[in-house]
Amino acid sequence: MSDIADITLKEITSHAKEYGFIFPSSEIYDGLGAVYDYGQNGVQLKNNLREYWWKAMVRLNENIVGIDAAIFMHPTTWKASGHVDAFNDPLIDNKDSKKRYRADNLIEDHIAKIEGKIEKELTKAAKRFGESFDRDMYLETNPRVKGYRDKIDAINQKMKVSMDSGDLGGLKEIIEEEKIADPISGSRNWTDVRQFNLMFKTEMGSLAEGANDIYLRPETAQGIFVNYLNVQKTGRMKIPFGIAQVGKAFRNEIIARQFIFRMREFEQMEMQFFVKPGEEMEWYHHWKEKRIQWHNALGLGHDNYRFHDHLNMAHYANAACDIEFQFPMGFKELEGIHSRTDFDLKAHEEHSGKKLQYFDNQEDRSYVPYVVETSIGLDRLFLAVLSSCYKNETLEDGSSRAVLKIPPAMAPIKIAVLPLVAKDGLPEKARKILEELRFDFECTYEEKDSIGKRYRRQDAIGTPFSVTVDHQTLEDNTVTVRDRDTMEQIRISTEELSEVVGKKVSINTLLHQLS
Ligand code: GAP
Repeated sequence: MSDIADITLKEITSHAKEYGFIFPSSEIYDGLGAVYDYGQNGVQLKNNLREYWWKAMVRLNENIVGIDAAIFMHPTTWKASGHVDAFNDPLIDNKDSKKRYRADNLIEDHIAKIEGKIEKELTKAAKRFGESFDRDMYLETNPRVKGYRDKIDAINQKMKVSMDSGDLGGLKEIIEEEKIADPISGSRNWTDVRQFNLMFKTEMGSLAEGANDIYLRPETAQGIFVNYLNVQKTGRMKIPFGIAQVGKAFRNEIIARQFIFRMREFEQMEMQFFVKPGEEMEWYHHWKEKRIQWHNALGLGHDNYRFHDHLNMAHYANAACDIEFQFPMGFKELEGIHSRTDFDLKAHEEHSGKKLQYFDNQEDRSYVPYVVETSIGLDRLFLAVLSSCYKNETLEDGSSRAVLKIPPAMAPIKIAVLPLVAKDGLPEKARKILEELRFDFECTYEEKDSIGKRYRRQDAIGTPFSVTVDHQTLEDNTVTVRDRDTMEQIRISTEELSEVVGKKVSINTLLHQLS
C-alpha cells in the first residue's frame, strides 16, 4: 500500500484530471499559470468540505455567524490593512533563462540542499559506526557537519535581517556569495532583487467617470473587519463572538507550481473571533485546540498534522501558528491561526474616521476588540484530502487498483447503482432504486462495461458504496452493497439501503465528534 510520502504530486495531478476532479483553467489554450477549474467530481468534494467547515463554525457555535462580503472593496481598505505597502514578495529574474523566482525561495532551496548534504554525511556515518552510532553527538562534533550547520545558521540570520528590514540588496548578496544558480539553466546571471506586490489591480468605472484603481481581495478577512459593527449591531452579538466567511481570494503569486497548493485564484475559509482585550491568549489556545480537533475528526490521519508555532511574528500579531499537513512535497502550511490584536480594527478606524468600538455592558466601557483568526485554504484542504486518500493497492489476486479512500461523508458520490448486466429488466429495476435514493444521496448510475471495471472506476472516484442489482433482486428485492475500502459485499433488502448507507455517509458523523 502507498503512503503520502511515496505519492508524487504528479500522480495526484493526473488522477485528479483523469477522474473529473481538477482541470487546468482554459486548457484548450494551454492553460493559465496556477489557475485551475474544478470538474464534476471536484466540485462535489469541494462543496462537502466547505459544508463541513461552515457547519462546524456557524451551526455548532451559537456565537458565530456567517457573512458573504463582496470581492471588490473600497481601495482604502487595502491601504489600512497594510497590503498596499507591504504585501510584497522579493522577486529576481535570471537574465539568461528569463525565468522569474522569489529570491527567498531560491535561498531556502539552497539551504535545503545543504541540509541534504548533512543527511548524506549522517547516513554514511551510521553505516560506518553501526549500532554504536550516536546521531546527536555526530551532529554536534563532526567538523564537516558542524561547518554545514554554521553555514545554514549564518544564511538564515542574514536572510531574516534582510527580509525584516526590506534590504533587497542583502538578499542579492546571499545569492551571489552562495553562488546560487538558476535551477533550470545553471546560470548565475541575475538581475537585482525587486519588491513585487501580490495584489491584482483593475479599474472600476469608465474613464469618463474618472476610473478608480481597485484590487481583487488578497484575503477574505478584511470583508469581515469592515462589517464587524454591522453584524454586531444587527445580530445583537455579545463579545466574545465570531464572524465566518468563505470566498475567493486572489494573489499574483510569483511562483506558479505545486498544483493547487499555491494558486493565483483560490478560496479561503476564515473566521475572526472578537474578544475582550487581555483575553486573546485564552481564545488563541481555545481555537488551536478546536481546529486540530476538526482536522482530526475529518479522518485523514492524526500523524499527517503538526503545529508550527511562529517565533518571528508580523508586527500586529502577539501569537501565531500554522497547522501543517504532510503533503507529497513534505509538511506545509494548511491553516493559519493568528492572534491579531486590535491592529486591523484600529487601522480601519484611523483610515475611515469611523469608531469601531464595542460597548461592554458588564464593564460599562467601550473598547476596540482584539481578534483571533483561523484561516484555512479550501483548495489546500482539497489537496490534503486527495493526497492522503489516494492509494495504489496491490490486491490478493496480483491485480492493482487506484482508490480514493475519501472520508465517506466528503465523497463526491455516495452510492453507485449498477445493474449486473444491461438486460433482463435489471436496468429498469436499478433505475427505480436510484430514483428513491437520489432524494437522500448524491448517486450515479452505470451499466456500461463489466461489473469489475465499474467497481474500479467508482474506487478511483472515491464512491464509498456500490449497489449491484442482479437477478435475485427481481425475486426478493435484495441488492449487494460493496464497501469501497474493504471490497466486501453484503446482501440487504432495498428498504434497508437508505438507513445502512445513510449512517455511514452523513456529515453528522463528523460533526458529532466535535461537541
Ligand atoms: N487572513 C489571513 C491570511 O490570509 P495566509 O496565511 O496568507 O493568511 C491563509 O492565508 C490560508 O490561505 C493559508 O494557510 C492557505 O491555506 C491559504 N492560501 C494562502 N495563499 C494561497 C494560495 N496562493 N493558494 C492556495 N491557498 C492559499
